[in-house]
Amino acid sequence: MKTFIVGIVGSPTKGGNTEILVRKALSAARDVGKTETKLILLSKAKIAPFTGRGSISVIQDDMQAIIREIERADGIILGSPVYYGSVSAQLKTFMERTLPLWKKLTDKVGAGIVAGDVHFGGHELALNEIRNFFLNHGLIVVSGEPPLWETCGAGLNPGDVRKDRWGMEAASAVGRRVAEIAMILKAGWILLEPSQRKANSWSC
Ligand SMILES: Cc1cc2nc3c(=O)[nH]c(=O)nc-3n(C[C@H](O)[C@H](O)[C@H](O)COP(=O)(O)O)c2cc1C
Repeated sequence: MKTFIVGIVGSPTKGGNTEILVRKALSAARDVGKTETKLILLSKAKIAPFTGRGSISVIQDDMQAIIREIERADGIILGSPVYYGSVSAQLKTFMERTLPLWKKLTDKVGAGIVAGDVHFGGHELALNEIRNFFLNHGLIVVSGEPPLWETCGAGLNPGDVRKDRWGMEAASAVGRRVAEIAMILKAGWILLEPSQRKANSWSC
């Protein structure tokens, strides 16, 4: 049994702090064993903003390919730089364009990672946006491991985050945790008969 974890970098900066942290998490995930990973850089993708109901299914851009990867993933790690105590516009645009995936991501594992200038620069606000996004989609949200439960890295210029030992450790911890829980869930669902599954049956 294998699991597949996708790491998405929502920073416009190629090789920046967010990318460094997400790469670190994916590397730790692969160490868990039988885990494949894929890195997606939103800086390289063309993703148009949502322009109102009805537009979502007709916009043709790089989002369709990204959606295919997300659909087959067992775990998703979203990374963002902290911008004014929030996530980047790139990540927000991506998040809004996942509307067609609503109710299709339930039972996948999700985790967020953020990079900001200094600690307490609004990291936790941005991280909560990512976590709330996952909860809205029904994913099972995990952190690193206590005390590294807030997966936040500090650094201003590209590469600075490497000097933030706690941030780098937290990224590793959350990558491991996503891979472990994804594997446990995948194995565990086999024990539950389809008729016993009650989750995800509610409709409005
Ligand atoms: C428009 C803008 C807004 C920012 N706002 C914050 C902020 O609110 N808090 C913070 O700690 N850092 C802030 N920063 C700094 C970045 O979050 C920081 O440099 C981060 O490491 C960039 O990540 P990257 O290298 O992946 O792009 C801001 C940077 C920019 C360009």
